[in-house]
Amino acid sequence: MSSTISKVLIVIISAFAIMQITLAGDPDILTDFIAPIGTTVDSTFFTFTGFRALLPPNTPPSTFKAFKASKAEFPALDGQSVSYAALVYPPGTINPPHTHPRSAELLFLATGSLKVGFVDTTNKLFTQTLQAGDIFVFPKGLVHFQLNADTQKPAFAFSAFGSANAGTVSLPSTLFNTSIDDNVLALAFKTDVATVQTLKKGLA
Ligand SMILES: *[C@@H]1O[C@H](CO)[C@@H](O)[C@H](O)[C@H]1NC(C)=O
Repeated sequence: MSSTISKVLIVIISAFAIMQITLAGDPDILTDFIAPIGTTVDSTFFTFTGFRALLPPNTPPSTFKAFKASKAEFPALDGQSVSYAALVYPPGTINPPHTHPRSAELLFLATGSLKVGFVDTTNKLFTQTLQAGDIFVFPKGLVHFQLNADTQKPAFAFSAFGSANAGTVSLPSTLFNTSIDDNVLALAFKTDVATVQTLKKGLA
């Protein structure tokens, strides 16, 4: 191959690599920020105070709870390709298997311990037991979960997302708390309609 052709190839391949990086977040906006019409844009608009609910004197939740700071709760994030969730796991609770269609998730465990895992598109499972201070990344779109296996201590984590609206598809409710026909689910899970209805009742 002549050296000119290889140079052209290198330029094309690098251009594609840069495009991949650009496409990894939400679409770019052509303004500094986006504010809903009629909103007063001052420092308050860029401040989210919803996570104060995590601190005393508020009582912590008794079941697993995800406190979100995404575009819906914090409109200043529109167009900024970032969001947060604060995750509270009382002893022995789970965040059930789910996916985020529009972003990877970068979880930082602040206190407690967590068993985490995700499954890739070849059905390979990757699990880890995290201790406080650890960070784990769940790749974009893949099914993942977290379990606080400790029966005494709560766990508390923060997750960052590379989208203002990462979205959540929770498998138990997407499959068994929507109107998907019982026969479809019975055939898909190689079971009977009665078993499907039992699962649906548990989530309704
Ligand atoms: C199931 O769906 C109903 C109605 O949309 C909702 O109120 C309920 O919270 C859902 N249950 C779960 C476990 O998501």
